Amino acid sequence: MTEPFDLNHTDRLLTTTRAVRKRLDLNRPVPRELITDCIRIACQAPAGSNLQRWRWVVVDDPTLLAGLAELYRRAYEPYIAMQKTAVDTSGRTGVGAIMDSSDYLSSILHKVPAVVIPCSLGLPVGNQGQVAGFYGSVLPAVWSFMLAARSRGLGTAWTTLHLEYEAQARDLLGIPDTVTQVALTPVAYYTGDAFKPGSRRPAEEITYFNGWKS
Ligand SMILES: Cc1cc2nc3c(=O)[nH]c(=O)nc-3n(C[C@H](O)[C@H](O)[C@H](O)COP(=O)(O)O)c2cc1C
Repeated sequence: MTEPFDLNHTDRLLTTTRAVRKRLDLNRPVPRELITDCIRIACQAPAGSNLQRWRWVVVDDPTLLAGLAELYRRAYEPYIAMQKTAVDTSGRTGVGAIMDSSDYLSSILHKVPAVVIPCSLGLPVGNQGQVAGFYGSVLPAVWSFMLAARSRGLGTAWTTLHLEYEAQARDLLGIPDTVTQVALTPVAYYTGDAFKPGSRRPAEEITYFNGWKS
């Protein structure tokens, strides 16, 4: 009989895989094989009709990393300026740390050992079901990649801001225009090991049985 999972391990992995920005080790190279291992595991994720239309562009060339980081920064700066104004006027608390960490990522993205851009063949067109099917057939694999990375001591951070300049990123990397980039994550060994569960709404508050709670 297969051993049951050790919930201490699986729950810790699932509840403490955070967006790693400040704790990315910029000085330790990440072997390509390790990234491929994570992708191999990620490809066990579900996909509509098991079509596996995901493709993974791994960038570890410094010139290309600089190009991507420049696109990211170009999108990040106006975005964060708007966010900071919105937070100032709304009085929301607890977002300062995320902004600090996001500023940091934007400033060092060109220095990370590698960046992974998960893609899907095709474009997200059609009705709600088709669009859900399109993204639903690639995004679970992206999260699996991040979990597999974390299990191997690698930090990642889900980002989408460079997609504002997806055409420029496509040109930079030779990605065909029939392919959709869905995210961009830095990949680096993380420093320290004190990852904690993040703050989330209570499950009881957001779970409705037998219909929508009015
Ligand atoms: C769809 C999506 C887009 C995101 N885009 C960015 C981004 O462009 N830049 C960034 O620094 N973080 C980005 N994040 C990371 C979130 O800010 C992060 O997951 C959230 O603050 C929760 O933090 P935690 O993952 O550490 O719990 C994104 C996350 C998701 C799921």
